[in-house]
Amino acid sequence: MVLRSVGFLFSIVVACSGSIDIEKYLKTCNRNSPDVNDCLVDAIQNGITAMAGGIKDIGVPPVDPYHQKEQKIEYKNNQIQAKMVTKDILVLGLKESTVRDARLRVDDDSFHLEVDMFSPAVSLSGRYEGSGSYNDLNVVAHGTFVTNMTDLVYTWKLDGKPETINNEVYMKIKSFYMRPDVSNMQVYLTNESPETKELTALGVKIVNENWRLLYKELLPIVQANWDKIGVRVANKIFLKTPFNRLFPNTS
Ligand SMILES: *[C@@H]1O[C@H](CO)[C@@H](O)[C@H](O)[C@H]1NC(C)=O
Repeated sequence: MVLRSVGFLFSIVVACSGSIDIEKYLKTCNRNSPDVNDCLVDAIQNGITAMAGGIKDIGVPPVDPYHQKEQKIEYKNNQIQAKMVTKDILVLGLKESTVRDARLRVDDDSFHLEVDMFSPAVSLSGRYEGSGSYNDLNVVAHGTFVTNMTDLVYTWKLDGKPETINNEVYMKIKSFYMRPDVSNMQVYLTNESPETKELTALGVKIVNENWRLLYKELLPIVQANWDKIGVRVANKIFLKTPFNRLFPNTS
């Protein structure tokens, strides 16, 4: 009991001092080295593996599978209206990705990092509740969904600004952007509302035949979601470790 309390106190002290040994989890890169971009390719590739199951010490959530509680999607276009709430979403596939290139640009008041990525397959699945209308035809449906995508090519773009916290300079990530090019996408839905089963089956068939169009239309909505997730996850690292330790400047 006493030992446990001491251990508890100790962990509070460590947490308050804010000193987390980031090097234990992530490779750091000298920001002035001519090889910084190659170093970053390695660091990010290893970082994805390290972060797949989450890093509890610094509050990084598991990123593969990534779990999202809920996302609402609303879509309106001429005669088509659709509202969908998706829940218990699991995103699989990041850990099989390849980091192809990285480019870092840092100066006194800005941070910009681009990371070229390739993912052979990404799968999203979960539950959904939705309603849609086409002219005066109304469909209500609920069930499970799977969206499988293959050969995704994309670039992460992170922008940050320095921020001083307790006399230490951190790089706070302000925005995260990506726009994946996808080779193929297929949607599978189950519908547990018997009266609209056939209609949703038809809807899914139409969606799968026109997925490029749908993907383009839905991209702004999912991008806003990625921006939030990307900023949040990145700052678990960037706001936990002073910039000079994350990107040493030792030349
Ligand atoms: C979708 O992708 C997941 C993960 O790769 C896989 O397990 C599943 O079989 C795929 N579903 C279909 C219907 O292809």
